Amino acid sequence: MKPKDLTSKIFIDGGDPEETREIMGLLGFLDGQTTNPTLISKNPEARKRLDRGEKFSEREIIDFYHSVVKEISGMLPAGSVSVEVYADPETKAEQMLSQGKMMFGWIPNAHIKFPSAPEGLKAAEQAVKDGLRVNMTLCFSQEQAAAVYAATRGALKGNVFVSPFVGRLDDRRENGMDVIANIIRMYRKSDGHVEVLTASVRSLDHLLYAIKLGSDIITVPGKILREWAGKGLPMPGSDYNYPAAGLKAIPYKELDLGRDWRDFDISHDLTVKGMKNFSEDWESLIRHTKH
Ligand code: E4P
Repeated sequence: MKPKDLTSKIFIDGGDPEETREIMGLLGFLDGQTTNPTLISKNPEARKRLDRGEKFSEREIIDFYHSVVKEISGMLPAGSVSVEVYADPETKAEQMLSQGKMMFGWIPNAHIKFPSAPEGLKAAEQAVKDGLRVNMTLCFSQEQAAAVYAATRGALKGNVFVSPFVGRLDDRRENGMDVIANIIRMYRKSDGHVEVLTASVRSLDHLLYAIKLGSDIITVPGKILREWAGKGLPMPGSDYNYPAAGLKAIPYKELDLGRDWRDFDISHDLTVKGMKNFSEDWESLIRHTKH
């Protein structure tokens, strides 16, 4: 059962409906799911097929992603399921938007993931005008979150998530949880239409601190949710301290959310690297026919 003081929504970060089913049973609740190309490439059915030496055609992989997302959506009718567009560093906003529109039609509770890069923001700006719900992924800075806010102005609360990636910043010894704290602080002075979704969670401490900071949503890998359930779903007490030793602090910046999104410096090397990795993992599933 959901702990009564828990205000954050808890999503599973995964690409396997069986795991979603198992975790729902363990926790007794689940508020949604995020998927991404890497997680889909690790789906056990996809792995079996690849192990037999059978890659997917371009049509088959789209159909496969559709079927996975549909099964998950059926388990979480009141929750949200994030579906990510293919976006390498060269993909244009128009291409992202047309994929996003197709994917949004797959299930009734989709949020479409676009990268927090210039073309992704351009796509999202139009997507929310066209009535899509979006989840802006690969966010690594407060500036990117400010741009997400500005690009989606006018959208209803619940229709826009921003996903700052904690673990990938920690990997290079920067305190990823500072970005969560800074964005939540910045959004306190906003209309609240963007919800903060803590992503790239690698430890129980990430989960507990994100709960303590009041992150709207936290997406958590099955492994960490099993650990949390095994300990009886503990909550961070008032004496909880996040162990940030060895991580470089990321300071808060005063940013004016009233500006145009193009005025913010949204460049981040981890966003570009993330787009490259996601697209390579996706491509690794596909059998390209030579012309
Ligand atoms: C979820 O939306 C993200 O894609 C995911 O949390 C990324 O996690 P990773 O940094 O462990 O790949």
